[in-house]
Amino acid sequence: MRFGVLTGGGDCPGLNPTIRAVVLRAARGGHATVGFLDGWKGVRDGLVRPLPPAEVAGILNRGGTVLGSSRTNPFAKEDDAAKVLAVLARERIDALVAIGGDDTLSAARELHRRGRPVIGVPKTMDNDVGGTDWTFGFHSATAVAVDALERLRDTAQSHHRAIVLEVMGRNAGWVALGTGLAGGADATLLPEEPYDEAALLARVRAAVAARGYALVVASEGVELGTAKGSAGAKDEFGHELLRERGVGAEVARRIEAATGVESRSAQIGHIQRGGAPELFDRILASRLGAAAVDLALAGRFGEVAVLRGESVRGVPFDEALRSPKTVSPDWIDLIRSLEA
Ligand code: F6P
Repeated sequence: MRFGVLTGGGDCPGLNPTIRAVVLRAARGGHATVGFLDGWKGVRDGLVRPLPPAEVAGILNRGGTVLGSSRTNPFAKEDDAAKVLAVLARERIDALVAIGGDDTLSAARELHRRGRPVIGVPKTMDNDVGGTDWTFGFHSATAVAVDALERLRDTAQSHHRAIVLEVMGRNAGWVALGTGLAGGADATLLPEEPYDEAALLARVRAAVAARGYALVVASEGVELGTAKGSAGAKDEFGHELLRERGVGAEVARRIEAATGVESRSAQIGHIQRGGAPELFDRILASRLGAAAVDLALAGRFGEVAVLRGESVRGVPFDEALRSPKTVSPDWIDLIRSLEA
């Protein structure tokens, strides 16, 4: 068989180990792999690169994606869809492995509906793909945010300030939850809950009274009611670029205005997405990449390789994409019980 592989959407640590696993697992069975550059854009425009095993040596521990990525939606225009189908035929692709989040996987599902042999692999630092227990990228990105929070703790303590760390995650609060839990924040603001300013201020006041400073984690997706400066800029899949709203800075401003405690904010943005994948992500990515090849060799097209408990298995696109995974009440209960 001739495999094609692409990485679409926002990059995250773990993409390179997945590409490597696809190439090596396929090669082990005597199958060749080519990579499409820059996500669906590369399939649409015929940007192809051969991926013999030697090409993936040494990429296991590298962040980003050696194939490049984009947020191109290949089905936004019928002309583009026709180009995608023509390129797949020209390149004689017997199995396309699409590695991505909800958007990339939705495009892969559409391609499958049009009769092409596609397998999906979920990835995203947001951890919001419904059909899998974890997505790779989340652990590595959240570890970066925890490190940032710990650095902010030092300076907040020195200056007796409240500091708000804004983290990514889109409309799911997993990154904020993980950062708040593992970093010991005094308050963590999640998009899954209505913004409660009185509760936030009470926690900040309690923390400042107890030890002279406060740390708050705010997810970029939190709705503040009077959202400051919503830029309205959208990507090709129609998602607003949430960081432009400046939630963290606005929360810090409100804390200072209401409590008199000098406040600052930090937005670490894309720093979270870079760097070497952590252990968990390397292992999960490797397992999913290998599983994608196995699904294709078994003829199970139209499935996504997912993690369920300890096991990796294939589920249909519709099941994997049924509903985005958001932070559940039991997690919220846990973090509330451990805050200031
Ligand atoms: O989906 C991953 C993610 O990092 C989100 O957490 C964030 O909102 C978005 O991508 C940022 O997108 P971009 O890289 O296009 O600015």
